[in-house]
Amino acid sequence: MYYKEDPKFPENFMWGASSAAWQVEGGVAEGGRTPAMIDLNSRKKQPYADNSIAADHYHRYKEDVALMAECGFSSYRFSLSWSRIIPHSDGKVNSEGIKFYNDLIDELIKNNITPIVTIYHYDLPVWVYEELGGWRSRKTIDAFEHLCKVCFENFGDRVKYWLSLNEQNMQICYGHWLGTSAGCTDWEKEKWDINHIMNLCHAKAVVHCHEMVEGGKIGPVPGYVPIYPKTCNPGDQIAAMNAEELTQKIWNDTYVYGEYSGFIKKYWETHDVHPDIRPEDLELMKKAKIDFIAVNCYRSNTAYESKIDSERQEYGLNKFGIKGQMQWPNVPGEYAFCSNPYVEYTDWDWEIDPQAMRYSLRYLWNHYRLPMMITENGLGANETKDADGQVHDTARIDFLRDQIYNVGLAIEDGCEVIAYNPWSFTDLLSTGNGIKKRYGLVYIDTTDDELVNCKDVSELSMKRIKKDSFYWYSKLIKSNGKDWGKEMK
Ligand code: BG6
Repeated sequence: MYYKEDPKFPENFMWGASSAAWQVEGGVAEGGRTPAMIDLNSRKKQPYADNSIAADHYHRYKEDVALMAECGFSSYRFSLSWSRIIPHSDGKVNSEGIKFYNDLIDELIKNNITPIVTIYHYDLPVWVYEELGGWRSRKTIDAFEHLCKVCFENFGDRVKYWLSLNEQNMQICYGHWLGTSAGCTDWEKEKWDINHIMNLCHAKAVVHCHEMVEGGKIGPVPGYVPIYPKTCNPGDQIAAMNAEELTQKIWNDTYVYGEYSGFIKKYWETHDVHPDIRPEDLELMKKAKIDFIAVNCYRSNTAYESKIDSERQEYGLNKFGIKGQMQWPNVPGEYAFCSNPYVEYTDWDWEIDPQAMRYSLRYLWNHYRLPMMITENGLGANETKDADGQVHDTARIDFLRDQIYNVGLAIEDGCEVIAYNPWSFTDLLSTGNGIKKRYGLVYIDTTDDELVNCKDVSELSMKRIKKDSFYWYSKLIKSNGKDWGKEMK
């Protein structure tokens, strides 16, 4: 649909940005925090820095919140570190961890910024893995339930928007990259057990949030990547639908309907997979009615028909930020991916596709009719300071402008969208490329080399430098989506 005027955003629309504890905090051995599996995983991503320091938000959260307020934020989405809150298997609550998050939440509220809190963003404590068996064990459900209750009890008086697990679909689809597969010997089968355990954790979070948080709302955080068919060959369309199912729809259907779809049950039967699903599990899943869907949307995929006798090809992610290194996957008999000639690509071979945002919101709205909030969207880029000491990130401004415009168009199309929180506020640690892959509106004045080689964070500048995108975004959000900085129509 074509609209004559620029899209309008609702009056109470929440504008902010997003982060995750392990990617921004640092201070991994401070305040009683014990190691998380992702700490170990991030050490495998050399030559990039691990998460020991990240953006040093643990020590500088007040400065960061002041910058958010200056920018005009009305929301901030962040996650809680499980092992900072519950550092050991005895389940005792770490008062220093609670204090850190209480202080952060209070600081946000003092600045009229609504906290949107993710309970779990990839950082399973080492004790959960070593002593309980990690995601492969049902004991982890009890430990996670305890974590949820502690969080709702301690923060639920001020935090009303809760997110359960970040990108469960990506944790299963990219289990090796994100470390979910630790300890598995037959990942292709075991991942469905892990997925079921995660579904039960999600369900516990939803049920307890509704029981314990007055006025509390909670939703899942799918990583949503729309899938286009390569051509109008019907085989390509079915391949796109298969990919849609196997990378996201089976998760979203389960969250919304509280049951496994016919598609996934048939898939399991065909692939001789038999997850341990008990009648009481299904009852719990049915009880867990979500209030909204939090959407992480960065890019799109393009699929074509994959013959059953073709050769399997794994996804080969671009690890170095030099274009053209992505290796597309082929899942014989299901789908194969390829590049899309109609879109541009980032240095890491991610599609720059603003209409994917509009597509995603419309797709999710059409299927589920639930309010949505954007909890991630952004450009991962190689960036450095210019000679004037500033960061002129024109590419990020262009990226965000086009993406946000499409959020607006989706709203005009009739979708209910309540918030936009791009990834990320400051530069932070990426999942596999340290701080080299920068996403922030605010530049952190350090490099992977410095982070790797320093003995203590006090040796580093870690100065916050507002990028051009900070000033651009500030004007846009202070005008509630009217000041685009250029003619849009
Ligand atoms: C999202 C994750 O999928 O993508 C974030 O929730 C992640 O944790 C972001 O950082 C960007 O991905 P990457 O690999 O560039 O860090």
